[in-house]
Amino acid sequence: MRIVMVGSGYVGLVSGACFADFGHSVVCVDKDAAKIEALQQGRIPIFEPGLSELVAKNARDGRLVFTTDLATAVAGAEAVFIGVGTPSRRGDGHADLSYVFDAAREIAHSLTGYCVVVTKSTVPVGTGDEIERILREERPEIDVSVASNPEFLREGAAIQDFKRPDRIVVGCEDERAKEVMTQVYRPLYLNQAPLLFTSRRTSELIKYAANAFLATKIGFINEIADLCEATGANVQEVARGIGLDNRIGSKFLHAGPGYGGSCFPKDTLALIRTANDYATPLSIVESVVTSNDKRKRAMARRVIAACGGEVRGKTIALLGLTFKPNTDDMREAPSIAIIQALQDAGAKVRAYDPEGVEQAQAVLSGVDYAASAFECVTGADAVCLVTEWDEFRALDLARVKGLLNTPIMVDLRNVYRPDEVRKLGFTYLSVGRA
Ligand code: UGA
Repeated sequence: MRIVMVGSGYVGLVSGACFADFGHSVVCVDKDAAKIEALQQGRIPIFEPGLSELVAKNARDGRLVFTTDLATAVAGAEAVFIGVGTPSRRGDGHADLSYVFDAAREIAHSLTGYCVVVTKSTVPVGTGDEIERILREERPEIDVSVASNPEFLREGAAIQDFKRPDRIVVGCEDERAKEVMTQVYRPLYLNQAPLLFTSRRTSELIKYAANAFLATKIGFINEIADLCEATGANVQEVARGIGLDNRIGSKFLHAGPGYGGSCFPKDTLALIRTANDYATPLSIVESVVTSNDKRKRAMARRVIAACGGEVRGKTIALLGLTFKPNTDDMREAPSIAIIQALQDAGAKVRAYDPEGVEQAQAVLSGVDYAASAFECVTGADAVCLVTEWDEFRALDLARVKGLLNTPIMVDLRNVYRPDEVRKLGFTYLSVGRA
């Protein structure tokens, strides 16, 4: 099949490369000429495990090409996916749909025959209707269907999530679109990945409901973690104890410094705005957002408490900056709020992250960067583990202790066992464990 991805950012690139790997012929389009030139030369603008190899292989085999020329790419395509950004609109938290609608207008002028225009971007319920209106207004004579096909990719595991999805959700309003989308996902359908067809509006809402529910699970276990600390219980055991109940499920119950990233913060906010517009407020999601915002800064207070209530003039070593491991993404990372709060309290912050330093430099100021975990902790007055990169999971703690000024460790991801760390002589604080 001939598929076009409009927008070669995270979603467009991963989806395009995976579709090409299924054997489809894929053109990835982007307005950013520098990005397209880099991709044409095999340089990948984001860090995502396995992506660079997948792009190289499919580009070499001629199934994946990159261009800024949307019109030529779209002419003759059977499915055109819109995968452009939908950032939070400045000021009100609604999703900014201007890139989506601009793309729809451009696509309209380039269509040459029947085609399904599909939103992969996360878009509020009703956006498909608006795209259809735009397409018909711009080109009243064209034969086109509009579908919704949200992505459920986790950064760091996106290729695996694309190729072995729990489900594929497609929202469309006519049989022809359904047939085209069935062909698009045929390679996965043969693997028995559930392909769920719904109405377009339902599909759009599924995406937001999924992210809001996952954010709620994290928000819930984080508050339970606070209660565990106050009562002497252990949040990991509570999570296991409730997670073994199939109705609850064990995933997304890791207590930590609060969720971050490019999706949960933005999507929960946009969903709240949509719900308010329809006069059906989502009070549960609203409290999750408030609770998560407060939590990030509260983590800095934990570090300050571990240091005896005072960090002025002290050096705090931070291990991990990105919002989660296996990505270089710093968007809404808990580390940002933690660092700012520590700096506000007069601390000097030294940080190490395996992949995120370049992105971190753009959003943080006054931070010293180290080239390794051991360099980071050398001479520091405390170490705080913020992101659970694999390389922090089995640190030589005796060596870490020897390098620190004072053996204080705050482990915000519960990577280590309290008894083991304390046995080495550390003052050790973690999350939800007495
Ligand atoms: C999330 C969803 O998991 C994907 O299904 C979805 O497609 C994506 O958003 C999106 O909308 O595009 P992602 O933001 O990449 O994916 O990352 P997650 O693995 O979901 O983690 C999000 C945040 O929650 C991270 O800060 C992580 O540390 C935190 N988290 C996650 C926890 O604190 N505890 C957990 O148990 C799980």
